[in-house]
Amino acid sequence: MTVTIVGAQLGDEGKGGIVDLFGEPADVVARYQGGDNAGHTVVHEGTEYKLSLIPSGVVRGKIGVLGNGCVVNPRTLFDELDALAERGLDPDVRVARRAHIIFPYHRVLDGIEEDVKSESDQEVGTTGRGIGPTYEDKMGRRGIRAGDLANPDALREQLEYTVPQKRALAEDVYGVETGEEFDIDALYEEYREYGQRLEAEGMFIEAGNFIADRLDAGGNIVFEGAQGTMIDIDHGNYPYVTSSNPTAGGAATGTGLGPSVVGDGDVVGIVKAYLSRVGSGPMPTELAGVEGDTPGYDGNADPEEQELAEYIRDAGGEYGTVTGRPRRVGWLDMPILRHATRASGFTGLAVNHIDTLAGLDELFVGHAYELDGDQRLTVPATTERWAECEPVFKEFEPWPEADWQAVADEGYEALPENARTYLEYISDELDVPIYAVGIGPGRDESIIVEHPFE
Ligand code: IMO
Ligand code: MG
Repeated sequence: MTVTIVGAQLGDEGKGGIVDLFGEPADVVARYQGGDNAGHTVVHEGTEYKLSLIPSGVVRGKIGVLGNGCVVNPRTLFDELDALAERGLDPDVRVARRAHIIFPYHRVLDGIEEDVKSESDQEVGTTGRGIGPTYEDKMGRRGIRAGDLANPDALREQLEYTVPQKRALAEDVYGVETGEEFDIDALYEEYREYGQRLEAEGMFIEAGNFIADRLDAGGNIVFEGAQGTMIDIDHGNYPYVTSSNPTAGGAATGTGLGPSVVGDGDVVGIVKAYLSRVGSGPMPTELAGVEGDTPGYDGNADPEEQELAEYIRDAGGEYGTVTGRPRRVGWLDMPILRHATRASGFTGLAVNHIDTLAGLDELFVGHAYELDGDQRLTVPATTERWAECEPVFKEFEPWPEADWQAVADEGYEALPENARTYLEYISDELDVPIYAVGIGPGRDESIIVEHPFE
């Protein structure tokens, strides 16, 4: 059967940890969208692994698949593989021939566009990994796919078509001088070698067939979503989004299996017990702000609110895995979760970071929004309207610090009562059962209420 892991908020919900938690019975962990913009952390035998591209299940010896819906930077791929090998692992990663390749010029163009947008405060705050420009080329039918790297003539021909366009865009439209990132010969040599290595190491697959065969043989598959619902290109707050579909539909199109296959399994929404956001865009329940990211924020928030935001940021380790940037933090936002639950059809929830909120003096949840004097329970479709929403808060009793290891050993009933009340509110509002509760970064610091594979 399959279990699909989807970020219910704005990314960084702790998806890697839940893949790790539920992934034990899995044979294959497949990513279906995104690229090396993800930042998934797995703690295994006391060692912390930070992965931006390779599926996190690989750390535990699962076969990792980068599905056709992914964009693959071969430099990152081999760097991560080599780093895992150096740490004594024997990673097994397969790449869909249909996946699109991120080239150095995509990264340059990502940076240029962000720079230009920032002149009018319109930058998205991307990870700079070239994700958007690569998906643009995919949709524009001028992308280069993983399978093409193994066909030198096709690779050469496509580079000769595409690269001059990219160079003209950088130089003639944006007035930026270009370098080796736009050099056809150099790109050809480097990327042809990646193709040879992918081929030599048996990494190429037809992802749909590969996964379907394992399912037919009774195998278990985890679809590991990256990013999150509110940065989904369709269901997120456009244009402050990533360029793919982290929502559950992406697991079908991004791997080559039918929606009925994905829907036949579990779809688990990963929820952080509060909210964090990297980069720009609205965030109605935000506490204080981060200069340069929070629209209009100049560092002058109420000092108490600022202190609370800093406390949560530090307690939760809310600094970007990929970029190291401080993340914006805020209270849990239920309209986001209702939107995410509908868009992906969650059958279960995993709520992380319950420990982070322990010991606060006050605790709120954005239960609804007020917009034009009316209350609404869901997220408006335009970013401008979302920015006008004022949160309608519901207050909860905070819970105290606890011996989390003991709680993890004893199970759900050992959670502080106020934490259970909080979790049950979330579950009741969304009408989705809680499958797991995260009370620390390691796999052992989690409570499994219901295991989707068991
Ligand atoms: P994980 O998998 C949080 C955000 C970026 C930016 C927007 C577009 O760790 O949850 P992109 O480089 O994708 O074009 O950037 O999306 N973003 C993430 N935010 N977690 C992530 O991944 C993210 N990946 C991209 O900050 O606002
Ligand atoms: Mg992350």
